[in-house]
Amino acid sequence: MSDPRPIIDVISSHPWVGRARHTGDEVVVRPHADAVAVRPVLGDLVREHLEHWSEVYEWIYLTSDGQPPEADLSGWRASDTGEPLPREHMLEWIDRTVELVREGNPRCVLELGCGTGLLLRRLCTDVEHYVGTDVSEAAVERLTAAGLPGVSVVLAAAHESGSSQVVTALAGRRPDCVLINSVTQCFPGRDYLDAVVSDALAVVADGGRVIIGDFRHAGLAGRYYRWLSSDDQDAARRAAADEEFVFDPKLLAEIATRCERPVTMSVRAKTMTADTELTRYRCDVVLHVAPPAVPAGGGETPLPNALLCDDPGGVAPHVLRERIAGTGAIVGLDLDDPTRLRVCAPSGDPVDLIPPAGPAPADPIVRFVAGRLAEAVRDHLARVRPGEPQPAVRVEWDGTR
Ligand SMILES: C[S@@+](CC[C@H](N)C(=O)[O-])C[C@H]1O[C@@H](n2cnc3c(N)ncnc32)[C@H](O)[C@@H]1O
Repeated sequence: MSDPRPIIDVISSHPWVGRARHTGDEVVVRPHADAVAVRPVLGDLVREHLEHWSEVYEWIYLTSDGQPPEADLSGWRASDTGEPLPREHMLEWIDRTVELVREGNPRCVLELGCGTGLLLRRLCTDVEHYVGTDVSEAAVERLTAAGLPGVSVVLAAAHESGSSQVVTALAGRRPDCVLINSVTQCFPGRDYLDAVVSDALAVVADGGRVIIGDFRHAGLAGRYYRWLSSDDQDAARRAAADEEFVFDPKLLAEIATRCERPVTMSVRAKTMTADTELTRYRCDVVLHVAPPAVPAGGGETPLPNALLCDDPGGVAPHVLRERIAGTGAIVGLDLDDPTRLRVCAPSGDPVDLIPPAGPAPADPIVRFVAGRLAEAVRDHLARVRPGEPQPAVRVEWDGTR
């Protein structure tokens, strides 16, 4: 029998709906706070968003073939052509990232989202213990089957670093490096990043480092879309269709200020030789927890990044890296202008000295919820009011709770 209640009451009874109201011909709904929560319990809509990405990667790993296991580059494709990124470039990308991790001389690494093990396979021989986690069963099964000494691989999402499986895999050890490399693009948004990074900061040993690597810098998002596009309209279309989470490194500083221990942050430019989207638009951040001494901030006057500016005084990141090789300095990114490079000490600045991040693109969960919640409401109406005409349903939510 059809549900006799007013339609707004029927819609509001769906557990994912927080509020529903009529405006003219349509029903406008807002998600229930529990459905979009990350903590204390992961909401259903957030879970579905995570599942979407785990399915994407599961498919990539299950359908890839002919990749050597020691450097399985499945899924590493150029955004403009869809073609695989050149192997030489990716091998250099691995070298640079491995160097970044080795800088802290870790003994126990926890890698969240380890994928095919591009970093794990290179780093595990340096350390006593390496725990990798991933949401792709295929990735976890393959790395487990490789039987690498000192390595445990666990099926877990990045927000589950405190789960019993991960704790068991760590076997009482406290990691001195938590590595979150090229994973945050799959995150639903700021709340999820906050939960993952806060947990990582809580678990890492004194003097250890949390590395959030290879993420797209929100301050370079506009340039990235224009670089990919034929004209401004195409760039706007790509921006609107972007499913990846991009953010400003300052957001990580904001998260880290809540850590009970002192934290310093250093923002690194990517310094591969080839001029690709990975070199131009991504960066690495190192959060150093309870560092031995609070360092002086600053760094030399910023230099224009020749890959991003036409300035005659510009320098390419890899050229700057070669110039400062052996000095102990690193190629940093200017916090306020990511088109500028800085030669800095690797220790970075205390996070509480870093100003808050400016406006950023909307979290991916906002667009996901707009589609998925409307679909769920229509399915719900079709179930409880079978055969009856349905109103247009629109989700109104900007990501706030
Ligand atoms: C681009 S690969 C990066 C792999 C590896 N970290 C590296 O740098 O080579 C992204 C990996 O993140 C995993 N992933 C996506 N969302 C995740 C999440 N919420 N928690 C943990 N892993 C996730 C995917 O399954 C995939 O294996």
